[in-house]
Amino acid sequence: MTENNKRDIVCSGIRPTGNLHLGNYFGALRNFVKLQEQYDCYFFVADYHSLTTHPTPDNLYLNARQILIQYLAAGLDPERSTIYFQSDLPQTAELYLFFNMNAYLGELERVTSFKDKVRQNPNNVNAGLLTYPTLMAADILIHKATRVPVGKDQEQHLEMTRTYAQRFNSMYGSEVFPLPQAVGSEGGLVKIPALNGSGKMGKSEGEASTIFLTDEPSVIRKKIMKAKSDSGPTEMNQRKPEEIENLFSLLRAVSKPETVEYFEDLYNRCQIRYGDLKKQLAEDMVAFVEPLRQRILEVGADEQGLRRIIDRGKEKARASADRTLHEVRHVIGYRD
Ligand code: TYM
Repeated sequence: MTENNKRDIVCSGIRPTGNLHLGNYFGALRNFVKLQEQYDCYFFVADYHSLTTHPTPDNLYLNARQILIQYLAAGLDPERSTIYFQSDLPQTAELYLFFNMNAYLGELERVTSFKDKVRQNPNNVNAGLLTYPTLMAADILIHKATRVPVGKDQEQHLEMTRTYAQRFNSMYGSEVFPLPQAVGSEGGLVKIPALNGSGKMGKSEGEASTIFLTDEPSVIRKKIMKAKSDSGPTEMNQRKPEEIENLFSLLRAVSKPETVEYFEDLYNRCQIRYGDLKKQLAEDMVAFVEPLRQRILEVGADEQGLRRIIDRGKEKARASADRTLHEVRHVIGYRD
């Protein structure tokens, strides 16, 4: 399959746990938009996965709809990509059941994201959290995808997807599933840092450390001016501490290369003033996010258009999933 790029299948999703942030954008969404130019793409809103943290019936649909709007605002094109809600594809749940039969407690308990969740929320260690990787494998393999655009934090989940694909193939002596790879940008898989100096940008680091695509300019400025920094380098060409490296990572994401070089040079000569760096970063960030925020407002106002996209996506995704599931059921031994 991979010899002929045209036929490669791409699949990925994002959980509807709030508005999308810069980590989601640079780790995943930006690459979704690029990949749809070249491949056969399936992008979904992971609204089954979100049940692991128990959303209420009132906000489940609205949150999922909001992610769909943000996909479209960022440039996902329903004519080129199949865009759908995970819960519109119950075939995924059946494949998940099959993978769970060959997934072992020990390997699931060793997954880093599971261990983190257990630590953060010891009173909600549900079976859905434990089997998060088999559901993810089902999402990807239901379309026999070979490329999965994700951020660095999903690398281990992709490794497990390959394990379940391979295990199924060898158990049934078949080559039903490909072994999908995580894909990032040219420089590899991306990790966008939080503004509080450590860790990755995301909900768990708190709202103040996370820039959302829906943040207004004044909010972005405030968050960036408050970002953690230190008292400055004391030696020429000194290695940057984590919080400073993080500010530079954000600068690299949204500013021009000349701007990055300018501040790198000041840093290396111990002449940098972090207030200036942050002001520049805030302005470049606003220039980057504001058009997206406006687009989100526009797309969100077209209810009928959204409905059409949801229905069309469901239909296309189901056709692909039915093909895979038919083959899988046959290989397992069911006779329809
Ligand atoms: P989720 O919803 O946590 O994140 C969605 C995507 O955003 C990326 N991401 C980041 N990338 C770089 N830096 C960050 N700070 C950052 N924060 C988030 C994630 O790597 C991800 O690509 N399990 C997935 C959702 C999912 C999925 C799938 C993905 C469900 N099924 C099948 C791919 C294929 C998740 O929770 O991502």
